[in-house]
Parts: sequence; structure tokens; C-alpha cells
Amino acid sequence: MRECQRARPATESGSSHAQAGRRAADGSSSRVGAPDARGAERRAKSVRAPCLVFYVRAGFEGACAEEVRAHAHPVSGEVNADPGSGFVVFAPHRAEAAERLASTLQFSDLVFARQMFFSSGRLGLISPGDQVTRVMDEAAALHATFSEIFVETADTNEAKACLGLCRRLEVPLRTRLRDSGRLLEDARGPRLHVFLVSPDAAYMGLSWASNASPWFMGIPRLRWSKGAPSRSSLKLVEAFAAFLAPAEQATRLRPGGTAVDLGAAPGGWSFELARRGLAVVAVDNGRLDPQVLASGCVTHLRADGFRFRPRKPVDWMVCDMVDKPSRIAVLVAEWMASGLCRACIFNLKLPMKKRFEAVSHCRELIAERLTHAGIAFELTLKHLYHDREEVTGYVTTRSRR
Ligand SMILES: C[S@@+](CC[C@H](N)C(=O)[O-])C[C@H]1O[C@@H](n2cnc3c(N)ncnc32)[C@H](O)[C@@H]1O
Repeated sequence: MRECQRARPATESGSSHAQAGRRAADGSSSRVGAPDARGAERRAKSVRAPCLVFYVRAGFEGACAEEVRAHAHPVSGEVNADPGSGFVVFAPHRAEAAERLASTLQFSDLVFARQMFFSSGRLGLISPGDQVTRVMDEAAALHATFSEIFVETADTNEAKACLGLCRRLEVPLRTRLRDSGRLLEDARGPRLHVFLVSPDAAYMGLSWASNASPWFMGIPRLRWSKGAPSRSSLKLVEAFAAFLAPAEQATRLRPGGTAVDLGAAPGGWSFELARRGLAVVAVDNGRLDPQVLASGCVTHLRADGFRFRPRKPVDWMVCDMVDKPSRIAVLVAEWMASGLCRACIFNLKLPMKKRFEAVSHCRELIAERLTHAGIAFELTLKHLYHDREEVTGYVTTRSRR
């Protein structure tokens, strides 16, 4: 996730998804070498255009659409971002541009997208009895083999009605793909997405593990740690999973490490750091849950998080203070630029409007300050599943110039 790897380039086999897209666009997306007249006729009836599909938290479609337009520039296209739908579709005006975009757009650069995949366009699934056959036809037109199949829907109350259908479709689809030798245990291959937008329509497409979320529906399934004092602890657990590879989590979050938690009360984030053996200074004028202090790893300091500075540099500064996002961004930049910490995880509370603009401004503030200080850094911002009107940031140093 964190590593900015390029999506798989359009190599001989890798380009087949794009070819499928083109076939789909001109209404001739039948399987190469195995023409299926009935299938081709059915597909020709759907309005098809190669596109990119993004999953978002309901209510953030506008922010995601703005972001996608900005990143796609100068490629122009039609954006479908119905408020409350939980997804955004970007269809470039020039069909072949979707292919290029699928390999140049970096999922890790996108803040508001939970998932991203290339699709050959919207597919009508006709009748319930025909769905599996229809999906199998379309899958064959997209690619020969897959590393995984996700039968998904949007994360909205309305779309939840489709979840039962997703489960019912997933089993026979997985079985048929496996039985025909087309589901391989090879993570390098594309994953097949069947994204049901209603019981009778879907976007089908491909994503690669190196340039997409690893999770079903882009949502990690996390357990609330026993003894955690607040659900907000899940935000930090998700941030670790989203920004750090498992090996990095093991080496950078371990006994002997040190951390400062700004805006710590009641102590969910401090609890998660202490649980991993780090010594934590928890800064907040509010009360800390006694269970958090009982670990012996957490020292509570009643102080202003904007003024507090540690005597010695720490491994981590984490910050969940509720304040203006630009004020938090400046604070984070200052800690990193002065070498007070090696990495930060921080929350930016968003305004109700111009969210993309607010996030971009914070990104620029941090980047400018660290560049000015001659620090090589890595900065990622994500609207995590456990974030509501906020996004989470991760910044770490690479090496000094
Ligand atoms: C969302 S809560 C933090 C929840 C915490 N991360 C957890 O997991 O339990 C925000 C906290 O920031 C604290 N806060 C806000 N402004 C602060 C400041 N200037 N200095 C210290 N703490 C501050 C509030 O007292 C509040 O406890």
C-alpha cells in the first residue's frame, strides 16, 4: 500500500485488460478464440465505456471525483459521482486513455479512494439465473487467469441489500474459476472485481495487488483489542495496517521503541502503542483511562499538545487532537523537520466543504517545510475506513541529504 509501485505496465499479457476494455467499448467484447454470439449480443446491449472505478465512504464522492480529475489531468472524462452512492466512476473521453490511466494513477496517491480498479464498463446482469454465466463470459474477456476474485458492493445502507447476492455469486464463480484452472495462487496476477451496483448491474474489472487495496471492499476487518478504552484505537490499528508492511510493523513497533501521543485521552492510541511494547508519553489535559496507565508503559502529561516537545527525539509522534487541519499539518512538519521524531501518524479533521482542497493544502504545507529542511520523506494521506469526517496521514523520513 505505502510503496509507490507502478501498476503493472501494459505488457503482452498485462495489456489484455485494456484490450478487453476496447473490445467492450465497441460492443464486441466476445472472448478471443471462443466467440459467443449470445454473449456478444447481450454485451452489445449495455452502454459500455472503459473506466476506472473507485470505492469511497458515502458522502465523499465529490471529494474523490475532484481528486481523480486532478490526478488524471490532462486526461478528461465523464465522472459519475452520485452523492451517497459510495462509489465514483471515471470514464475518459478517449477510451484508450483508461488503459494508460490504469497504469499511471497511483492508488497510494489517492486520499479518498478505498479501492481502485480498471473496468470494461457497466454490465447489465440480466436475470438471476443468468448471472454466473454472464460474469464468467465477461471475466474471460478481461483476462485469462486471476489471483483472486472479489464480489463486492458499495459500503452504503442501500447497497447492503446486495451483500447476500454477492455471497451467493461468489461461491459458484470461485468454484468455476478454480475448476477451469483460472484462479491461480499467484499474487502477481490481476484480481477480478465484480462490483454490484444493484442486483442486476455491475462493473467488472481488474486490479493489481501492487496498486490497490488488499482488502475486500477496500475495508480491513479489524478486531477491537481487548481492554482498549475507545473505538478510536481502531483508527491507529488501521493506519498501521494501511501504511506499514507487516515486516515494517514488526521492526518499527516493538519493545524498546518510544512514542509521544498528542491529544491522547481517553487513551486508545496510547493503548495500542503500549500493547506493542513502546514507551509512550500521553499528552492531554483530559483524563486517561486507568487501564491504559496500568500497562506501566504510558506516562500521562497534562499539557498543551501544540507546545509540548520531548527532551530526546522519539521514534513516533502520533496526533489525534481536534483542531484546524492546517495547524496540525504545521505541527507535524515542525516535529519532523526538527528531528523530534522519525515518523508521524496524524489525523486531519476535515471541513464540510472543499475537503480535497483542505487535504491538498495540508500535504503542501508538510512537503514544503520538509523539502526546505532538506529532508527526504514519504508522505501518505488516506481516508481510512475508521475515519469519519477526517483523514489519516503518515510521514516518515527516508535519509537526510
Ligand atoms: C479525538 S480525542 C483523542 C482520542 C484518542 N486518540 C484515543 O484513542 O482515545 C481528541 C483529544 O485531543 C485533546 N486535545 C485537543 N486539543 C488539545 C491540545 N491543544 N493539547 C492536548 N490535547 C488536546 C482532547 O482533550 C481530546 O482528548
